[in-house]
Amino acid sequence: MNLILFGPPGVGKGTQGERLSSEYHISHFAMGDILRAAVRDATQAGTQAKAYMDTGKLVPDDVVVSMIEDRIVTGETSGFLLDGFPRNVAQAEALDAMLERHTLDLDKIVFMDAPEKSLLERLSGRLICRACGFGFHRHYSPPRETGVCDRCGGELYQREDDREDVIANRLHVYRDQTEPLLAYYGSKPGFIRLDASGEVQVVYSALKEAVEG
Ligand code: AP5
Repeated sequence: MNLILFGPPGVGKGTQGERLSSEYHISHFAMGDILRAAVRDATQAGTQAKAYMDTGKLVPDDVVVSMIEDRIVTGETSGFLLDGFPRNVAQAEALDAMLERHTLDLDKIVFMDAPEKSLLERLSGRLICRACGFGFHRHYSPPRETGVCDRCGGELYQREDDREDVIANRLHVYRDQTEPLLAYYGSKPGFIRLDASGEVQVVYSALKEAVEG
């Protein structure tokens, strides 16, 4: 199964993408995580990407497109879930071209949405494990011990771009550049619009039902 999850920052793409990909044994390609790893490893792409990410702007298309194509081609044969890619119409067109080159299809394209108030609450309370990358939330899914990852004992931190001023810019960039994907994908076979405003488990059940339907 090959899937796309797209939607605004903080809507839960990473949270739901991780659950779904692990249940279906498919590769989870989270563009933000891939870029953050490149920044951490100081690769050429990471060095190029950092300034854009710190301010909430989109990293140039040529950088992200080649990073995704490498993974799709070498990924598991059981399928993939794209989370955070494509993020504008040019990237969606590039994805279509690469799927055609590798004779691959998309089974479902899921658009997740929630009210802006929820997005702000989710982003400003997010905590991530420095060691294993697992995500928590101060109020909605707090760790058992403050500042410590339940899974691996690693240190929890707040993402640089989860500061209030950067969040505002990310939401602006989303409305301006990513929302137009609704017109691009809205009439394609496999398009699903998912209300992601409920609790994590409620959203996950709806997502699974939609994807399996
Ligand atoms: P990226 O890391 O992809 O950020 P994003 O799209 O802004 O998405 P987030 O990771 O912030 O949110 P999410 O929807 O995954 O929510 P999550 O599940 O974590 O990208 C970062 C940057 O990289 C971009 O700004 C850009 O610079 C660059 N970039 C990435 N892709 C690119 C591309 N294709 N092209 C160019 N540049 C690119 O949940 C958030 C919080 O809410 C968590 O704490 C979670 O526990 C909690 N939560 C989740 N669901 C619920 C729920 N139902 N109820 C309550 N809490 C919930």
